[in-house]
Amino acid sequence: MEPYRIKVVEPIPVLTRDERTAAMRAAGYNPFNLNADQITIDLLSDSGTGALSAAQQAAAALGDETYAGARSYYRFRDAVASLTGFEHILPVHQGRAAERILFGALIAPGQLSVSNTHFDTTRANVHLSGGTAVDLPCPEAADLDSDTPFKGDIDLVALAEALEGPTEVAVVVMTITNNGGGGQPVSMANLEAAAAITRAHGVPFILDAARFAENAWLVIQREPGWSDKTPTEVARAAFDLADGAVASLKKDAIVHMGGFLALRDPDLATRCEAVLIATEGFRTYGGLAGRDLEMIAVGLEEVVQPDYLRARAGQAEHLASLIEKAGVSIVRPPGMHALYLNAGRLLSHLTPAQYPGHALACELYVAGGIRCAELGSLYLGVEDETGTLVKPAPYELVRLAIPRRTYTQSHLEYVAEVIAEIATSPESVPGQRLVSAPPLLRHFHCRTEPVAP
Ligand SMILES: Cc1ncc(COP(=O)(O)O)c(C=O)c1O
Repeated sequence: MEPYRIKVVEPIPVLTRDERTAAMRAAGYNPFNLNADQITIDLLSDSGTGALSAAQQAAAALGDETYAGARSYYRFRDAVASLTGFEHILPVHQGRAAERILFGALIAPGQLSVSNTHFDTTRANVHLSGGTAVDLPCPEAADLDSDTPFKGDIDLVALAEALEGPTEVAVVVMTITNNGGGGQPVSMANLEAAAAITRAHGVPFILDAARFAENAWLVIQREPGWSDKTPTEVARAAFDLADGAVASLKKDAIVHMGGFLALRDPDLATRCEAVLIATEGFRTYGGLAGRDLEMIAVGLEEVVQPDYLRARAGQAEHLASLIEKAGVSIVRPPGMHALYLNAGRLLSHLTPAQYPGHALACELYVAGGIRCAELGSLYLGVEDETGTLVKPAPYELVRLAIPRRTYTQSHLEYVAEVIAEIATSPESVPGQRLVSAPPLLRHFHCRTEPVAP
């Protein structure tokens, strides 16, 4: 059960099917174009969508909005330092700002950033720094159905080869958990080995630690030798392996805005701090209000509580089991922040060019007011100049991200019921075709329309 009770509630809209059909049409069949008042259950993102605790709200009232040297900064810094052990801690407004600042200081044009899987913004910031992002997920990640416990691991053989050259590697980034790779965790054994290989080549080893607590929990549950450790101890052991970390605190600090860049190297920190001041804000606020810094400090303590993490993992497992009982495949084993539906398998009557993942995301909205995002050929596929899909994505998935402390078990059971209803006649779900799409980040802006089944 959830280890909290509800003190403040927010009504959620429940539209009729006809209203949802009209809303989807008006949105150009793109869930990103829907408004909050049209959505019953929003599973688009787990980022910045969590519910604050009473303690966080109380801390916010103590927010010190002094421009330089605010008390709130020191509380934030101490919370991050005691969690991570890093000496130099820069607040930023969200994770991608930390990426931009760090990669700007680390990556020279032509160099590589190597990762288990770069998150989209991480990849974009590598490219903006003139580098190339290379993903080296472990081979087990390719089998969506297997229960291998750590499919978020990096391929150690491929990492060693990449570090040998010929192209220079500027940084190795381990994303924990691996959001781009199905939300799968990274084992401590893999982190230790990757850190050792990377160090041997004198290359900085950085964690993208947005979901550090969830990774720690899954290590405790799944990795031999770690079951008697606390989430704080596991998280600290991971940070101890790294030269620094970037983190979006909109996930595992359960706040609406915030991030950090934390480093050991004082010279690198000084260079990053100059860019921070120029682009985010003074080093003691970095684009955040004092009240944000206070809420982060409290959230970082709350997120490592075993009762909270157990309930969060339990929500994902419960939803996963109901979905599978309805005969719908997910990427296994279930992680914690999101479940990934195998839309390609469920809507096997559709070709990749009919965007089965996107079609399922549209249907989830029309059938039940559930909003979620496609991770398939609409997002990752490549078309030629005539608009014909020439390179489909490897998988046609739909991501159901689960906001922290926001929805109850019965909300998630409702989601499973809607999925089960769709699964009774999947062949009635129409495919989609592109009507208009900008060249960059098209999944955010494109418009599509249903094609007759
Ligand atoms: C693994 C990972 N890294 C970085 C980011 C970027 O963080 P932000 O959205 O705070 O800029 C995200 C956001 O979803 C993420 O999941």
